Amino acid sequence: MINRRKFLEQTSLAGAITLIPGVLKSASSNSKDLLVTDKPVVISTWSHGLEANEAAIKVLNNGGSIVDAVEQGVWIPEADPENMSVGRGGLPDIEGVVTLDASIMGPDGNAGSVCFLEDIVHPISVARLVMDSTPHVMLSGKGAQDFAIENGFKKENLLTEKAKKAWEKEIKKRDYNPALNWENDPNYYHDTIGLIAIDANGDMAGACTTSGLGFKKRGRVGDSPIIGAGLFVDNEIGGATATGMGELVMKTLGSFLVVELMRNGKTPQQAVEEAVIRIVQKVPDHKSYQIGFIAMNKAGETGAYCLKPGFNYALYKDGKNKLVDSKSYYD
Ligand code: GLY
Repeated sequence: MINRRKFLEQTSLAGAITLIPGVLKSASSNSKDLLVTDKPVVISTWSHGLEANEAAIKVLNNGGSIVDAVEQGVWIPEADPENMSVGRGGLPDIEGVVTLDASIMGPDGNAGSVCFLEDIVHPISVARLVMDSTPHVMLSGKGAQDFAIENGFKKENLLTEKAKKAWEKEIKKRDYNPALNWENDPNYYHDTIGLIAIDANGDMAGACTTSGLGFKKRGRVGDSPIIGAGLFVDNEIGGATATGMGELVMKTLGSFLVVELMRNGKTPQQAVEEAVIRIVQKVPDHKSYQIGFIAMNKAGETGAYCLKPGFNYALYKDGKNKLVDSKSYYD
């Protein structure tokens, strides 16, 4: 860990920080917390983030890139059949089909995403391939699946018995109404994994992947694959990602908003709080839903905030990985 004075003595870094207006302003308003974080730092949504953070750190420790780290971090929940909101084992749509959304952004500002993708266990890697090997940002549905298969991905039935039973129970009811905080029932559901990381060089990347809202209408796509909604990273400023009811985040372009607020001088915590308040102000039925944001700036400072109690996140910082309860707008 370095202190502020030591940091400022490192002239090359002090020079770099003057190029970042948001961070500089933050330094004067919150200098105690800024510039003291050892890197790397990884932050990710929900308890499934603990293992994802560990995997991301392992990649970095083995000399992998920051993009490898965020991609391989979220592979863990994507591959886990017990995780009912991401990848294999995810809850299906109302027709009983698992459809996946994912996005990734690297330090060069490049971005890739897939949506409404079926039968591919790692949508984040398809999103990365879109980013790395095409001039496009997003591929959807059958086109995204064809692209994946052409590039060596294998088709797999992602609907587990557990998810199928949950769907059968739900379609008997057919009173479609996502219950508050279903995302955090430890016995059942979790939500999107969004993960933001910074490496020892200060380069940042992010990944976001989900099976989306359980029992959603066929064809529904959430915030997670929409660059600027479920995920946004600007390597000069910081990154943010969202979880919860994606429609609220899409209507306010939440992750882009958080990064822009940081650009304009907010700390990550101030920025995520303002993004949640924006939803409160702009989305009349927001009280029926949960939403959460996490963010990190270029100095490795982090923030998290949600609408209602119940959201937690995993934070790897100063060599320790822990689960933290987020503060919320409502009690
Ligand atoms: N946040 C995930 C979704 O709404 O699909």
